[in-house]
Amino acid sequence: MSEESIPSSSTPLPTRLSRLRNWLSLSGLVVAVSAFFAFMLLFSVDLFATHANPYMGILAYVVAPSFLLVGLAAVLMGYILETRRIPKDHPEMVSNFILHVNLARTRDRRLLVGFVGGSLGFLFLTALGSYETYHITESNSFCGEVCHTPMEPQFKAYQHSAHAKVACVACHVGPGAGNYIRTKISGMRQLYHMILGDFNRPIALHNVNQRPAQETCQSCHWAQKHTGDLQKTYRHFLADETNTPFTVQMVLKVGGSDPVHGPVQGIHSHMSVSNKVEFIATDEGRLKIPWVRVTDANQKVTEYRTKEFTDDISKYDIRTMDCMDCHNRPSHKYLSPNAAVDQSMAFGRIDPTLPWAKAKVVKALVQPYATREEANQKIESFLRGEYPDEKRVGALIKEAQAIYAANFFPEMKVDWRVHPDLIGHKDSNGCFRCHDGKHLASDGKSSIKGSDCNACHLIVAQGSGKDLEKVDAKGLTFIHIDSENSDPSCNECHNGQTQE
Ligand code: HEC
Ligand code: HEC
Ligand code: HEC
Ligand code: HEC
Ligand code: HEC
Ligand code: HEC
Repeated sequence: MSEESIPSSSTPLPTRLSRLRNWLSLSGLVVAVSAFFAFMLLFSVDLFATHANPYMGILAYVVAPSFLLVGLAAVLMGYILETRRIPKDHPEMVSNFILHVNLARTRDRRLLVGFVGGSLGFLFLTALGSYETYHITESNSFCGEVCHTPMEPQFKAYQHSAHAKVACVACHVGPGAGNYIRTKISGMRQLYHMILGDFNRPIALHNVNQRPAQETCQSCHWAQKHTGDLQKTYRHFLADETNTPFTVQMVLKVGGSDPVHGPVQGIHSHMSVSNKVEFIATDEGRLKIPWVRVTDANQKVTEYRTKEFTDDISKYDIRTMDCMDCHNRPSHKYLSPNAAVDQSMAFGRIDPTLPWAKAKVVKALVQPYATREEANQKIESFLRGEYPDEKRVGALIKEAQAIYAANFFPEMKVDWRVHPDLIGHKDSNGCFRCHDGKHLASDGKSSIKGSDCNACHLIVAQGSGKDLEKVDAKGLTFIHIDSENSDPSCNECHNGQTQE
């Protein structure tokens, strides 16, 4: 025992334990112990919970460990401050700062085992914590729900999309540590603006974090694939008393872009595999494209420009066309009121035998509302007023409100007008941004190939009832309801609201 006793000195030296008896260390201890128990509790709840909650994860793996670290730091700080109060020339100060480990001593062996065990435990918890932090900050609910107000429109639309099971980060972050860190830094900035509430409404049109398609879309979709023709049916209902059905059945010539896997043809011919299409857009949303350049498989280069565009192209950024220049809303598509009501009718959620239902529901949806609550109330009172003695009005109101909830976000000022889908040419200029026949080559005559009605698709049947049985594989001429007006710039009339 004698070897363990500390030699006595003239002034009593506070023992190491008693140096922890100060307010700072004690409060640190309380914080650390509570954080530890909070962590254990949250951790076990998280382990056994069936439904993952993003806030729970953040509390368990980010907030609680931070408090634990702050607590431990306070304990240490207090200890150091107490030690500093002992006069420097005290004979034992020197020996106090030297670590004597003697494995022959039972006490030292126990201490060592305790120390190693404790460190391993701490390391394990930190590793688990960092892994879980990584996991959580990459999760869909973190991206879509924690920032709920600003990202609600994107999250809601995403849940209805073909990519509802694809993680946000697969399209927005891309692989690798560099991308992870870059996104998290911009995420901090976003968090700051979210707390202040001074984020843009709607949030930036063009996502600053958008990775190039090669790193995102093409990690799942094979750009070389030859898709061939796709058949699609577009079901509409006119804005008349009987909600007359009007259907268009089309074969879309999607084709492919790699000569190794099939002919380079059709819509996918400009996916920049063998042909390369580059362009200049003069607006942020890339809706105005006055200049296009194509390099074909034989390296032949052709430039097209509109008559009005006489600028020097070196002033602009030239963009190479990729998947997202057509598929710009693969997972956040907001339907126009016209399209949304057509869909509900086609699926039987709105009864097409209810007179004027198409026109009236669209009218209820397009009014300017400041909040969702206001919209729900006014949609209800409007439709009740229109159908005073109708039993089916309850179901109609419910469906109209559901369409509104899925496609309109008045608080964020987001709807189909803010984020148009560029895949076709009816409600937005889409393909006609280039295929409008107005982009001319240097000869001043020939325009971009593929700009006549049968270049991209064949209409195999159209109309309703018996008319739909007249199928023509060679392609029919489009019969437009409003036949006197046949200006091909469809979106000049079709703005997504009903034409009266
Ligand atoms: C299949 C790929 C894909 C997935 C999955 C995806 N996004 Fe997007 N996202 C896009 C594309 C493409 C854009 C449009 C970029 C553009 O127009 O420049 C976009 C745009 C956005 C924008 C900018 C605003 C806007 O509407 O244009 C936000 C915010 C956003 N996404 C959030 C999310 C969140 C949150 C998730 C997960 C819940 C998610 N995204 C999942 C592809 C995706
Ligand atoms: C993590 C893998 C993954 C990524 C990344 C991804 N997709 Fe997809 N995509 C899928 C899957 C899986 C489907 C099929 C969904 C189904 O059949 O229900 C799909 C379907 C599609 C479809 C058919 C859509 C439909 O409505 O049927 C298109 C178009 C598409 N993706 C485009 C894109 C574009 C553009 C991007 C990049 C912005 C992208 N995808 C990124 C996995 C992915
Ligand atoms: C020039 C515009 C354009 C470009 C560029 C483009 N696509 Fe498409 N893609 C279309 C059109 C149009 C369709 C037909 C479907 C439709 O109209 O919704 C289609 C269909 C698809 C489909 C659905 C095929 C199916 O079998 O259902 C997938 C998947 C797809 N594209 C992926 C991609 C990917 C990945 C890229 C980039 C490598 C890409 N597309 C580039 C216009 C384009
Ligand atoms: C940025 C401009 C641009 C946009 C937007 C665009 N295209 Fe093209 N497209 C071109 C160019 C350039 C060519 C090559 C034409 C040529 O060689 O003269 C082309 C070729 C085609 C071809 C092949 C024509 C042929 O006969 O060889 C089809 C089909 C086509 N595009 C369909 C579409 C569809 C569908 C969309 C919309 C989803 C679309 N394009 C959007 C620029 C564009
Ligand atoms: C550059 C390619 C291209 C050209 C040229 C083109 N279309 Fe289309 N069109 C498309 C694509 C792509 C879609 C499918 C959009 C979608 O899937 O939402 C489409 C869809 C349509 C539809 C169905 C829309 C709906 O919602 O019912 C009609 C009708 C149509 N086109 C008529 C025409 C007519 C008429 C012309 C000639 C004036 C024409 N198209 C020229 C690419 C083209
Ligand atoms: C001068 C204005 C105008 C132009 C240009 C125009 N449309 Fe229409 N379109 C109408 C009107 C009006 C109706 C009837 C709407 C109703 O009763 O619901 C209509 C109805 C339709 C419908 C069926 C109903 C619906 O609401 O979708 C389709 C499909 C359609 N148009 C496609 C096109 C296409 C494709 C183009 C371009 C080639 C085009 N339209 C150009 C005015 C126009």
